[in-house]
Amino acid sequence: MRVKRICCIGAGYVGGPTMAIIAQKNPSIAVTVVDINANRIAAWNDENLDNLPIYEPGLSEVVKEARGKNLFFSTAVDQAIEEADMIFISVNTPTKTYGVGKGMAADLKFIELCARQIARVSKSNKIVVEKSTLPVRTAEALKSILDNTGNGVNFQILSNPEFLAEGTAVNDLLNPDRVLIGGDIDHEKGKEAMQALVDVYASWVPKERILTTNIWSSELSKLTANAFLAQRVSSINALSELCEATGADDNEVAKAIGADSRIGSKFLQASVGFGGSCFQKDILNLVYISRSLGLAEVADYWEQVITMNDHQKDRFAKKMVSTMYNTVSGKQIALLGWAFKKDTNDTRESAAIYVADELLAEQAQLHVFDPKVQKQQILNDLKTLNTRSEEENANLVSIYNDPFKACEDVHAIAVMTEWDEFREYDWQKIYDQMMKPAFVFDGRNILDAKKLEAIGFSVFQIGKAN
Ligand code: UDX
Ligand code: ADP
Repeated sequence: MRVKRICCIGAGYVGGPTMAIIAQKNPSIAVTVVDINANRIAAWNDENLDNLPIYEPGLSEVVKEARGKNLFFSTAVDQAIEEADMIFISVNTPTKTYGVGKGMAADLKFIELCARQIARVSKSNKIVVEKSTLPVRTAEALKSILDNTGNGVNFQILSNPEFLAEGTAVNDLLNPDRVLIGGDIDHEKGKEAMQALVDVYASWVPKERILTTNIWSSELSKLTANAFLAQRVSSINALSELCEATGADDNEVAKAIGADSRIGSKFLQASVGFGGSCFQKDILNLVYISRSLGLAEVADYWEQVITMNDHQKDRFAKKMVSTMYNTVSGKQIALLGWAFKKDTNDTRESAAIYVADELLAEQAQLHVFDPKVQKQQILNDLKTLNTRSEEENANLVSIYNDPFKACEDVHAIAVMTEWDEFREYDWQKIYDQMMKPAFVFDGRNILDAKKLEAIGFSVFQIGKAN
C-alpha cells in the first residue's frame, strides 16, 4: 500500500522537523501536523519564518518550501486523524511527577489520550507510528486501547524512534545513520505496514540504512542509544574531574582515546553536564524498567550515569563559589547560554537551570544571556524547580538581549552553552567593564584560556588543572 495522507499528533521538536522533511521529500503525500496548543500551531503557520516555534538551523527553508503545498499545521486533530492512513504520535512523554514511578517512569497519559482519540475517530484502517520515546512494550498498550475502544477498524502499530539531535535536526533527518522501523514482522498485515513506512523514508534514505526489527527491539534500541550516548558524556565528565586533580588535560585524553577506532571520537566533549529532553528521561526509564523487572544491578549501573551528571552540575556551581572566596552573596554573575546545547532554543533539563539554582541559593544576582531563549522560558524553568517564589526569581535574575550589557559590572562570567558566538566576543571589552578580579568559568571549554589569561581574566575550564 502507498501512503497518501499522514497525520502527526504533536507539533514539537520531534514532530515539526520530522514532518517537514517527510513532506519535502514526498510531494505526493499530504502531511498534516496537529497540536492542541493553538499558539504553537499559529507560530508554525506564521508568515514570518523567524517566528517558527522551534529554532533549528535550516528548518525555516524546508518549511517555506513545503508549507501550504503538502505540509499543513492545524488544530483540527479529529479531522486530520480521520483523513489519514498513517498517524505518527509525537507527543511529549515527560518523566512522571506523581504517583507510582514518580521521578523515574515515563508519563504516558498524553500517549493514552492520543490512542483513545484515534480509536474514537477512525472509520478506516490506520497505521499508527510511535515516534515519541516510550518505555518498552508501550506498543502493546497502544494496540490494546485501539483494538478495545475502536470502531472495528484494523490498526497496525509501528515503532519508528527518532534519532535526530536538536541543533542538527535537519541534517540528521536528511542524512540519518539509520532509520529504525519496528513492527509485527511475523504477520502479513504488519509487514505491509512496515513496508509502507519504509517507502516513505526510501524517498531519500538509502535502503540499506532503513532497518526493520520486531517492535520491542525498536523500542528498546531508542532507550539504549540514548543511554550509551549519555554514558559517554558522563564517562568523560568523570574523567574531567580526575584531570583537574592530576594535571592531565581532558581534551588531550579525549583525543588520545577517541583515536582508537573501537572507541571513536564523537561525544567525548566534557561539559557542565548533559541536558535535553531525552538523555535523563530515557535513562530513568531504563532504570525504572530494570528495577520493575527485579534487575537491581542493571538499574544501579545505568543510574550512575545520572548520578555523575548531577555531580558535574553541582561541582561546577561549587567550584564557582569556592573560587570566588567562598561567597557569591550579593555578587553579580553573568551566565552566557541557557539552552541545553547550541543551535536550539530548547532548555529542557539544561545544566544552566541547575547551576543557576545553586548560585541563587547562595544569594548571587544573575544576569542571563542566550541568543535564542526567551525571557519567559528562563523564568518558567526556574519556576518549575519550585525552589523559591516567582517574585524572588524575578528579583534575583535579570535577562538581557545584549551579551555585553549582561557582562557589565559582574564579578564572574560562566559559559553554560557552547554557542559559537561566545568565542568571537571582544573579551578585552568585556574585561574592561567587569569587576576585578575578573573570573571566567568555562563550562564548555570553548574559550581560548591563554588569550583570556593574557587579558587578565582568572579562568577555570572543565578538565584542566587551573
Ligand atoms: C539526543 C540524541 O543524540 C538523539 O539521537 C536522540 O534522538 C535525542 O537525544 P539531543 O538531546 O537533541 O539528542 O542532543 P545531543 O547532541 O545528544 O546532546 C545531549 C546533551 O549532551 C547536550 O546537553 C550536550 O551539550 C551534551 N553533550 C553531548 C556533552 O556534554 N558532550 C558531548 O560530547 C556531547
Ligand atoms: P518533543 O520534543 O517530543 O517533540 P514537545 O513537548 O516539543 O516534545 O512536543 C510535543 C507536543 O505534543 C506539544 O506541542 C503538545 O502540545 C502536543 N500534544 C500533547 N498531547 C497532545 C494531544 N493529545 N493532541 C495533540 N497534541 C498533543
